Amino acid sequence: MNINEIIRKKRDQEELSKEEIDYFIKEYSAGNIPDYQASSLLMAIFLNGMSQREIFDLTMAMANSGDTISLSSIPGIKVDKHSTGGIGDKVTLVVMPLIASLGVPVAKMSGRGLGYTQGTIDKLESIPGFRTNISIGEFVSNVENIGISIMAQQESIAIADKKLYALRDVTATTESIPLIASSIMSKKIASGADKILLEVTCGSGAFMDSESRAKVLAETMVNIGKQVGKETIAVITNMNQPLGRYCGNSLEVMEAINILKGKGEEDVVKVCTILGAYMLKLAGKGDNLGNNFRLIQNNIENGAGLKKFKELIEKQGGDSSILDSPELLNMAKFKTPVISQENGIIYAIKCKNIGQAIVNMGGGRQKKEDFIDNTVGIEVLKKIGDHVEAGEPLLYIYSNDEEKAKKEAIKLQRSFKLGSVEVPKIEEIIDVIE
Ligand code: URA
Repeated sequence: MNINEIIRKKRDQEELSKEEIDYFIKEYSAGNIPDYQASSLLMAIFLNGMSQREIFDLTMAMANSGDTISLSSIPGIKVDKHSTGGIGDKVTLVVMPLIASLGVPVAKMSGRGLGYTQGTIDKLESIPGFRTNISIGEFVSNVENIGISIMAQQESIAIADKKLYALRDVTATTESIPLIASSIMSKKIASGADKILLEVTCGSGAFMDSESRAKVLAETMVNIGKQVGKETIAVITNMNQPLGRYCGNSLEVMEAINILKGKGEEDVVKVCTILGAYMLKLAGKGDNLGNNFRLIQNNIENGAGLKKFKELIEKQGGDSSILDSPELLNMAKFKTPVISQENGIIYAIKCKNIGQAIVNMGGGRQKKEDFIDNTVGIEVLKKIGDHVEAGEPLLYIYSNDEEKAKKEAIKLQRSFKLGSVEVPKIEEIIDVIE
């Protein structure tokens, strides 16, 4: 088989056979296909797409490109969760301890930031001492002992995804339905959970910018789940504005703590509670979503979710005093306001620009080997439907380089679109695909 011929076929919109897909994944994982050829194939897939059969074959090849984890020693239905990524999306940090506090075993492998979105692992690493690079043995034993563990995607699991994910991040090939579906589902299949809850984000701050594309992605992943016998539900959430108040790794950990203390903003609390309710349903804890919703709310109010988060932090070596004193999280030096130049009512926010500003200030990767600054981020003061006066701040930028922040502030000013007619607040949940 010849990689050049495989690239040519995809470039010319032909379907790849299972053997060709298997060959590419096997040889790329083994280091026998260089990044420049893999990038070229990724771009051809990005531009020309893949059939459902090709996406399934790609997913399975990626799932089998490394070790697979068995969680069978852990009793109960293990439900995994994954987000397609968004701006200010700290849902995993909140929901996983909450459902663990309700007796659902949580064994979650998470990723790092991709493109202009931040990842759960980078967020957790902003907690001093928190270890995400734990062994699979420690991961399973944590779940057996305290009912929850979150670890970075291991080198040995879905090896192809780890390499391709980093490559896509720096080759403008992230926003592709076949590549996102296979990336997510391969990891979920290899990491051993029984059922899967997907948060498919949609809007100006998501990889899927239209509802129709988000729906196709959601259906594609739900079908892959069905084909491998892992019940999968996808909740399509609105990402036309940042979720909650803060974006950026340390800031989002601080916000997640506040949510678990019952002090969260309405939009992010709603998304966390609804996703949690579906996860309880998948875990066999009850089909009545209203009841499940209340169970999650109760465990926010009575502090059980926060207590579980504390156990997780301590078990993985983190400093749990941040829960009482979030100021112990490292924070950026400067706080720069983004000021509105006009009066009006916000009808749109170019949400990707917020994520990109964080990347530009060092909070995301421009090259796959980049280190990131977890302290930088953005506080969102105004959202769609809000009235704004000229001179009022729309955002605060948290940075360690004030000059850079001022430049970003000018771009971010233009990311808010203001009109003169009333605009309704956005609906957080767009659709649920089961
Ligand atoms: N999350 C993933 O794991 N992969 C993607 O491609 C996008 C979001």
